[in-house]
Amino acid sequence: MGVPDPTKELVNKKGIRLDGRKTTEIRPITIKAGILHRADGSAYLEWGSNKVICGVYGPRELNPRRFQESDKAVVQVRYNMAAFSTSDRKRPGPDRRSQEIGKVIADAFENVVLTERFPRGAIDVHVDILEANAGTRCAALVCAAVALADAGIPMKGLVSAVAAGKANDKVILDLDQMEDNYGNADLPIGINHTSGEIVLLQMDGHLTPAQFDEALDMAVEGNKQVLVAQREALLARFATTLAAKEAAGAFDEPEPSNEPERAERNERRGPPREGGRGGDRRGGDDRRGGGDRRGPPRGGDRRGGGR
Ligand code: CDP
Repeated sequence: MGVPDPTKELVNKKGIRLDGRKTTEIRPITIKAGILHRADGSAYLEWGSNKVICGVYGPRELNPRRFQESDKAVVQVRYNMAAFSTSDRKRPGPDRRSQEIGKVIADAFENVVLTERFPRGAIDVHVDILEANAGTRCAALVCAAVALADAGIPMKGLVSAVAAGKANDKVILDLDQMEDNYGNADLPIGINHTSGEIVLLQMDGHLTPAQFDEALDMAVEGNKQVLVAQREALLARFATTLAAKEAAGAFDEPEPSNEPERAERNERRGPPREGGRGGDRRGGDDRRGGGDRRGPPRGGDRRGGGR
């Protein structure tokens, strides 16, 4: 959040913003899943002018061992802003802001990923902001959720996030850079869509309780729009995978085989006898009633064994 400037008209009297959006509108968002072949899961997102890429590795064994949790995996998020992502060159490397954002996103996923399935493990989420125009923590979380799903990491639900806020004393959704710099409040909110739980909530600036409620409702609605983009990305990704598998014949009807029958026969015969004749006794033995060598042949149904 920059320094609020009430003299700047960010929302006009008709409720239209500088980029032409209504107060309740989010910026256009597109997501593509599975764009990195060496990561276990990945996604690329464009949201307004924000451009974000995410790669997921894991679950893997967490090292050094002193960081392991015996009953669950640790979700580690590294948020990084590229030096060229902002109008002023961003000093490369981690800083307090990026550590804070990595931590709040990791905390959001800790409540959603089924970490108990991977004791002593780690799930690494690497998010790189290639171009930034406010709302990058939400964009990072949204992109990471798709990448985690692409990696097949089990989760309680899909998570999304979007910020609401205030400019010129009006509550608005999905602040851009100008609104973030000169507006009065920024309220990023992340939601687990399966449970409806809020998994991320931060606030910068000032809102009255009524404005907070309005912003919260707006963010909940905005999150539903973001979820649509996430679902589309995953559907496109897995539809492609399925189509490729289908083309490779993965779903073709298998050739009819008598394997199960043979396995059942072998089971009835018991272990092969010393001397070598036990291996494949197809043919005469069966017909002679030699299949069940644990007892005398009993004719029709030999599975019962009780008679
Ligand atoms: O990106 P987000 O809104 O989640 O976080 P922020 O700390 O409120 O930053 C708002 C925006 O300020 C970022 O999205 C960037 O566009 C910009 N920014 C920047 O230009 N240089 C930085 N070192 C940090 C942020």
